[in-house]
Amino acid sequence: MARKKIALVGAGNIGGTLALLAGMKDLGDVVLFDIAEGIPQGKALDLAQLSPVEGFDADLKGANDYADIAGSDVVIVTAGVARKPGMSRDDLLGINIKVMQSVGEGIKQHCPNAFVICITNPLDAMVWVLQQASGLPANKVVGMAGVLDSARFRHFLADEMNVSVEDVTAFVLGGHGDTMVPMVRHSTVAGIALPELIKMGWMSQEKLDSIVERTKNGGAEIVGLLKTGSAFYAPAASAILMAESYLKDKRRVLPCAAYLEGQYGVDGMYVGVPAILGANGVEKVVEIDLDATESALLASSVEAVKGLVSACKDIQAKS
Ligand code: LMR
Repeated sequence: MARKKIALVGAGNIGGTLALLAGMKDLGDVVLFDIAEGIPQGKALDLAQLSPVEGFDADLKGANDYADIAGSDVVIVTAGVARKPGMSRDDLLGINIKVMQSVGEGIKQHCPNAFVICITNPLDAMVWVLQQASGLPANKVVGMAGVLDSARFRHFLADEMNVSVEDVTAFVLGGHGDTMVPMVRHSTVAGIALPELIKMGWMSQEKLDSIVERTKNGGAEIVGLLKTGSAFYAPAASAILMAESYLKDKRRVLPCAAYLEGQYGVDGMYVGVPAILGANGVEKVVEIDLDATESALLASSVEAVKGLVSACKDIQAKS
């Protein structure tokens, strides 16, 4: 079987971690692209020198020319600017929209058959811009966030209950911003839904409420600690999980920013929902039943994403 090719656009902390994980998971050959000369080449060479130690054979290459990403099966986009303490993800829109437009054009020209995963913030709006600029089918362009937000929720729950993360399932719906919706009713420990656990006295409602808030604030908590950048290990691992599901046709059901065409009452926008990721990209958006509170929270998250997309349209109309 021909080796797969994975392009990583942006050679910052997330790009380097993506390259490491792609190599260690034997996903295929890796091109690490960045407009900064030397950085992608240096990181690719360092990782190539790590490969004999870890025992993988991926061809790792650094590049400054979009022509080098030609024919990629998967493109993961981290290019753009990360927030600093005190900023919201939305503050990055004005600068990152331009970056997404030029990355989208590079993808359109060189890898029109790729599956594209966007990590750049503000996520749900940037994945919309990337899809428009690349012209790829909407089901082949997705945003990574739900896997990350759900992993944070899982970690905080497991930590609080002193149980293995393996026995905790959790998922987060909606946009990857302050309005994201950690789904308490649909998250479990050993198959027992969180509201039941509270009835059983295993965790207090106050503690659960604080974990929900901490999950919503998960990115900002790390930005506040790092001071000069944002999280990178967990975002990279989350995107690699999505890439692997596509490349190996695993059909994982993963929360991700998927293009909605009527599902959840949303049309023509990307919002975080559970979706089946297989060889055709997003093969199905899974619609779960929401109660009145959950619907209202999702609606407010959708409104926030809508505002960002309309800001993008305004910027595009003026340029
Ligand atoms: C995250 O959630 O870690 C990322 O979206 C980065 C950020 O700015 O919070």
